[in-house]
Amino acid sequence: MAGRLEGKVALISGGARGQGRSHALRLAREGADIITFDVCRQLGTVPYPMATSEDMKETVRLVEDLDRRIVAREADARDLSAVQAVVDEGVAEFGRLDIVSANAGIAAFAENTWSITEEQWEEMIGVNLSGVWRTVKAAVPKMIDAGNGGSIVITSSTAGVKGMAGIGHYVSAKHGVVGLMRTLANELAPHSIRVNTVHPTGVNTPMIHNEFMDQALASPDFGGNLMNALPVEEVEPVDISNAILFLSSDEGRYITGVSLPVDAGFLGK
Ligand SMILES: NC(=O)c1ccc[n+]([C@@H]2O[C@H](COP(=O)([O-])OP(=O)(O)OC[C@H]3O[C@@H](n4cnc5c(N)ncnc54)[C@H](O)[C@@H]3O)[C@@H](O)[C@H]2O)c1
Repeated sequence: MAGRLEGKVALISGGARGQGRSHALRLAREGADIITFDVCRQLGTVPYPMATSEDMKETVRLVEDLDRRIVAREADARDLSAVQAVVDEGVAEFGRLDIVSANAGIAAFAENTWSITEEQWEEMIGVNLSGVWRTVKAAVPKMIDAGNGGSIVITSSTAGVKGMAGIGHYVSAKHGVVGLMRTLANELAPHSIRVNTVHPTGVNTPMIHNEFMDQALASPDFGGNLMNALPVEEVEPVDISNAILFLSSDEGRYITGVSLPVDAGFLGK
């Protein structure tokens, strides 16, 4: 049976592990070839271990096991020329670009907003907001040139819908990408390119399963940030991948400018 993305090409940022790897595999299973990049090194203000080159190799192996092609490179979403080089290489190899999942991101806690350091603020906004803009900036002209329409899905968060104590920089970036999405949805509609955000609640990835986050989330100040209505502590990466697949397939062909929570009812409480 033909997949829902047969013949399509998807760019995924932050594909070395976690949700990004899951998106690569889910979209590849539906027939897409994959272009991905990840910083694959530790950033100075991130308090938990980030992805490694080994993680990226594993993503490549898993996609190739599905008999799909993948161009995977190490690049920092904050470095436009590096991101552009990956996009250019992938599009030269596969001949088109249909789907963008701007997924790469970092998390961090501070006691409160006024104790966030300038370095923490700049790095958070640099990756989670400006990095998304750079990813889109590198990809959109290729999508327009190809003339096939397409879908861009930016990964925000429940923190892109409501305020949460202790993560003012994260909340600001995740709200910021909603404004970016709404603007792009208007700008790109004439090209039949749709733009949406997904808003996950806590997801079972190394971002929240590590010593630092275990401690932060155990605190009564922050623990409420991750309490769902449905009887599930967190969702799985594939739950977000399925939402991105739906938005990016023909089934979502008239959905644009929308913020889609995948939040086990968290925001409705
Ligand atoms: N895990 C959660 O609970 C949760 C909840 C809501 C939203 N999110 C968002 O989902 C997205 C994916 O996170 P995840 O849960 O898979 O975490 P993760 O830490 O497992 O994966 C994030 C990936 O992004 C990469 N990355 C970080 N900074 C980068 C940069 N500057 N350039 C390129 N790559 C970079 C990391 O190396 C890592 O591989 C993030 O945007 C995150 O904010 C996560």
